[in-house]
Amino acid sequence: MKGKRVGVMDMDLEGPGLHVIFGLDPYELPFTLNDVLVNGAQPERAALRMNDRLHLERGEIYFSPASVKVEDILKSLRSGFELDSFSNAINTLAEKFSLDYLLVDTHPGLEDDTLLAMGVCDNLLVVSRLDQQDMFGTGVLAEVARTLEKPTHLVLNMIPLALNSSEVSKIASKIGANFKIQVLGWLPFSEDIVSSLSKSVFILTNPRHSMTARFNEFARRLESLDEVN
Ligand SMILES: Nc1ncnc2c1ncn2[C@@H]1O[C@H](COP(=O)(O)OP(=O)(O)OP(=O)(O)O)[C@@H](O)[C@H]1O
Ligand SMILES: [Mg+2]
Repeated sequence: MKGKRVGVMDMDLEGPGLHVIFGLDPYELPFTLNDVLVNGAQPERAALRMNDRLHLERGEIYFSPASVKVEDILKSLRSGFELDSFSNAINTLAEKFSLDYLLVDTHPGLEDDTLLAMGVCDNLLVVSRLDQQDMFGTGVLAEVARTLEKPTHLVLNMIPLALNSSEVSKIASKIGANFKIQVLGWLPFSEDIVSSLSKSVFILTNPRHSMTARFNEFARRLESLDEVN
């Protein structure tokens, strides 16, 4: 929406889901990311320009879906894939589509594919709820990210509405200090996001919603990270 050229990869090969938000049937494409990573298909053949479907007038958005076929999911889990094929996919997409940003959404656990994505990215965004189970996982991820020496940023999501801004700020800075991780910001729990049932890209269908303003603010902060790097 800011006129950038953006790629989105659904690297959650174990539990793909981004195609739902984009309203795409992954079978529409001749190949999926699984074919690229496991069988050596050309990365650009598993990517689709989404502007028309999303009625996006500015910028460019390309989406690479993961396979939803059970046999493909099991195959990618069993055989895995090499760093080379992953970095080739990223570099090829970035080059062919002249991308400004490539967003790689991973599986939440510390699987090989998540580690590869963490190793290759420029910036790592960890999205977590305040929930203790999430926090435990976030601590582990922060530690791995430190070992990889990756600039890491925490986004706290689904903050209970009972907490006011100053309480959240205090909690956020405590978490940041504990995990030695920079807190990029936080988002409240939103009934409207739940009610949207992942049927669309929320900010496009709800341009005037307060959550859309929050997401825009995150986009602005991400752009400034880019300037720092
Ligand atoms: N701030 C929010 N308020 C309310 N609901 C939210 C918020 N953020 C995300 N959700 C909803 O929570 C659900 C899970 O979100 P999301 O898919 O981003 O999580 P995830 O951790 O990536 O899940 P998975 O592990 O399945 O990939 C979605 O239905 C989403 O719409
Ligand atoms: Mg996810």
